[in-house]
Amino acid sequence: MKKTTLLIAAFVVGITSAAWSQQKPAVDPAKVDAMVKKAFPGAPEDWAPRLSQDETMKVCSATGNSPPKAQADAIMKRERASIEYPADGKFVGDWKKGEALAQNGYGMRFTDYPPARATGGNCYACHQISAKELSYGTLGPSLQQYGKLRDFKEAEAKILYEKIYNSHATIPCSNMPRFGSNKILTIDQIKDAVALLMDPESPINK
Ligand code: HEC
Repeated sequence: MKKTTLLIAAFVVGITSAAWSQQKPAVDPAKVDAMVKKAFPGAPEDWAPRLSQDETMKVCSATGNSPPKAQADAIMKRERASIEYPADGKFVGDWKKGEALAQNGYGMRFTDYPPARATGGNCYACHQISAKELSYGTLGPSLQQYGKLRDFKEAEAKILYEKIYNSHATIPCSNMPRFGSNKILTIDQIKDAVALLMDPESPINK
């Protein structure tokens, strides 16, 4: 064989194997469920809902997080309906407690069971918030100057409360946890997180 023929042959083999490796194997949902169950052998009974997908997660998985409009609308409607509001009608709590909560990643892990103290929001894991904190994740957008950029409007505090309570009410397949609906944070804790972003005294707005 000539050198060029060999080169072409190698090239073709290369392309075919690259295409092969990009083909997704068919996923058997029952197999995935069984594997997830097996991965948490000592899970407490009340963890069962956390180990199976709810309706929203199923649709998001099946559509690669881009559901068609009708399904997206159905998710946002259902998730919004789960939002509970503060009895006193106030959305802004204590920003200092909010900062502690944003820093706190305690809760929802095996080692935190049974819970010995309040669960945190772990907001810094995904967001830049206070300029003083140098360690933060970037999965979510920076939240610096959040309140200032929104003129500290009461209506914005309500929108923010709803966002933290259930992020899927506005972005159907958001990567942000549904803190209120999934009982990660209490209503009072969510108000404190709102204060961290919306209170003019909070360092993030300085
Ligand atoms: C696991 C990662 C993760 C955690 C933890 C998380 N978020 Fe998010 N957050 C995101 C992502 C991703 C987005 C962008 C998608 C969206 O808006 O839903 C987002 C969006 C937001 C937005 C909207 C920002 C905008 O410009 O509209 C706010 C406000 C917010 N998060 C606040 C918080 C607060 C407060 C906490 C802690 C209680 C928190 N997030 C915890 C991932 C996270």
